[in-house]
Amino acid sequence: MPPHQANGLPAGHEADDYFHTNPPPKALSSHQSLAREFIQYHLENSPRRKVVLVTSGGTTVPLENQTVRFIDNFSAGTRGATSAEYFLQEGYAVIFLHRQFSLLPYSRHYSHSTNCFLDFMDEAEDGRVIVRKEYQDKMRRVLQQYHHAKDNRLLLLLPFTTVTDYLFELRSLAVIMQPLGNRALFYLAAAVSDFFIPRERMEEHKIQSRDNDAGGQGSGASRQLVVNLDPVPKFLSTLVQSWAPKGSMIVSFKLETNPSLLVSKAEQALKRYHHDLVIGNLLSTRKWEVVFVTSDGEERWIRVPKARRSKSISGVEELVGKAERKHGMEHVDLEGGTVTEGMEIESLIVPELALMHTKRMEQQS
Ligand code: PMT
Repeated sequence: MPPHQANGLPAGHEADDYFHTNPPPKALSSHQSLAREFIQYHLENSPRRKVVLVTSGGTTVPLENQTVRFIDNFSAGTRGATSAEYFLQEGYAVIFLHRQFSLLPYSRHYSHSTNCFLDFMDEAEDGRVIVRKEYQDKMRRVLQQYHHAKDNRLLLLLPFTTVTDYLFELRSLAVIMQPLGNRALFYLAAAVSDFFIPRERMEEHKIQSRDNDAGGQGSGASRQLVVNLDPVPKFLSTLVQSWAPKGSMIVSFKLETNPSLLVSKAEQALKRYHHDLVIGNLLSTRKWEVVFVTSDGEERWIRVPKARRSKSISGVEELVGKAERKHGMEHVDLEGGTVTEGMEIESLIVPELALMHTKRMEQQS
């Protein structure tokens, strides 16, 4: 029997309804063609290649059809963009489904205000623009990896903006990936909105902030904006049961802010959706620790060693370890070492997953 949602409807029913009543993104058919070509290329040229769909960044919830305002969330796409690089290092081909203008693999090292690319450049005496001496080595490495991914058609970048765009894209990609069978991996790191305004209730034009802004004779007083949001149906069960290739591995993320809820919520998600792994993370420690929760009751913490933790403005280091429930469980926590460069936790997460994925494929064959 299919799992039921809180409202009693079977999961698949709600999902179908969502796709019938909300419009697909304009770019959907061109994205579908690109994805088909990408998968076909790897099926023909490297039939053993594993392919991962990485979802990344936040989703917007528009308040108007001709959108001026929208609700958004904090996700910059760091987890997704960084993980995509490590998946490429592990030999995967990567479909990177990301929020438009969020961080991208490779260019993330030189984008946005914290890593503004202009700070890496200089003007040479002869007037040429050059990369500053101290950044040459790292930039060469990044550039080589980027070229390798591009030249070998290993990275497909597909953008989305709204939560509805994201869900249409996810469904299409999962179905297009079906010929990959158990070589497909889903790594759902996007921060997907749980609430939205259905199309039939959405304002067409910009919501006016004053009574008479629309041209009437009102008082001109500003008014409250009360927004009624509906729950977005949970699509994970439909992904697992119908869209994704049979035998594929599905990994979702669970984000919490309260340490005492993290592990139990991750367990609940596994029970509800019957997928392979939930990676739990706390907002305030997500760059330094995550927990792998599997259906056999395992709670495995992965931590960046203290000496290798990069500084983070929003992070709270005292909370590291506070969400751990089953003390004494196995850790991947390489203590000690001299600080050279901050270690990215994705460099620990992704090889672990690649190993799990390989083992799983071997068990299935
Ligand atoms: O981008 P960064 O700043 O680096 O941050 C990374 C991150 C914290 C966003 C990332 O590590 C993370 O935790 N992403 C998932 C956050 C989240 O949306 O959790 P959730 O509890 O809302 O959803 C859990 C899972 O259900 C998700 O894998 C999602 O794909 C899935 N889901 C969510 C909503 C929905 N309607 N249907 C779903 O299937």
